[in-house]
Amino acid sequence: MERNDFCWCGSGKKYKKCHMPIEERIKLHEEKGEIVPTRDLLKTPEQIEKIKKSAALNTAVLDEVASKICAGMSTADIDRIVHDFTTKNGGIPAPLGYQGFPKSVCTSLNNEVCHGIPDEGIILQEGDIINVDVSTILDGYYSDASRMFKIGKVSERAERLIRVTEECVELGLAAAKPWGHLGDIADAINSHAKANGYSVVEDIGGHGIGLEFHEEPFVSYVTPKGSEMLLVPGMMFTIEPMINEGSPDFFVDEDNGWTVYTEDDGLSAQIEYMVLITNDGVEILTK
Ligand code: MF3
Ligand code: CO
Repeated sequence: MERNDFCWCGSGKKYKKCHMPIEERIKLHEEKGEIVPTRDLLKTPEQIEKIKKSAALNTAVLDEVASKICAGMSTADIDRIVHDFTTKNGGIPAPLGYQGFPKSVCTSLNNEVCHGIPDEGIILQEGDIINVDVSTILDGYYSDASRMFKIGKVSERAERLIRVTEECVELGLAAAKPWGHLGDIADAINSHAKANGYSVVEDIGGHGIGLEFHEEPFVSYVTPKGSEMLLVPGMMFTIEPMINEGSPDFFVDEDNGWTVYTEDDGLSAQIEYMVLITNDGVEILTK
């Protein structure tokens, strides 16, 4: 690409006034041996606009769940709410059929870390905590976010875990800036979790998103500050740490192949934001 060509991103600006300075700056980091994003991880203005529409629907689905979730309901009821609301609004629930996942949403209760499968037999009880993880495809573009819900009055122990998990995600968000690194986000999250006596799940993490459900990079929440991929305007990924009150160890349900449980049976909480790195900071697309 020559400096006076129109930029590859379709902005209509010349390359020299658009992505050329960004790519020159990336090159300097690459020469220092850092992990840097390839061009295909930088979303174009047109892609960003379309992904934002998908993300807005994803947030509306979560709002719909929030307005209805209550004790006595089954997790299959949550699945129906997500499926019906998403499809009525022109979207497709991304989990449905994804690598064989059988339902439209992940519902993870209490000691379940993630990837819980909605079921008619799982009835929400007063005192439960549950993560509802919603992912949406709209016009071919992907979005993903999850919230924790408390069913009625929950224990002090559960309250504290959810509060600290919210703080972890907010601190991770505050650490996300262009020309920083993914490890800055991880370190902010891991330090706060540890300071509160909790642990962050390793091996399962966040991901790039937008054109596909799961894109590069893998986003760890346990890596050191300054490590991992350079953050560049146009990158999109999820901040979705799983915080355990006890050990970070987990195991996967042998029968369904999906549901992840804490090894020590302790509580686990997760909150997921999908974000865009901008020229001067970070923007939340869905939460
Ligand atoms: N939203 C989950 C994630 O972060 C989806 C897991 S895949 C599924 O990436 F098939 F279980 F939905
Ligand atoms: Co995700």
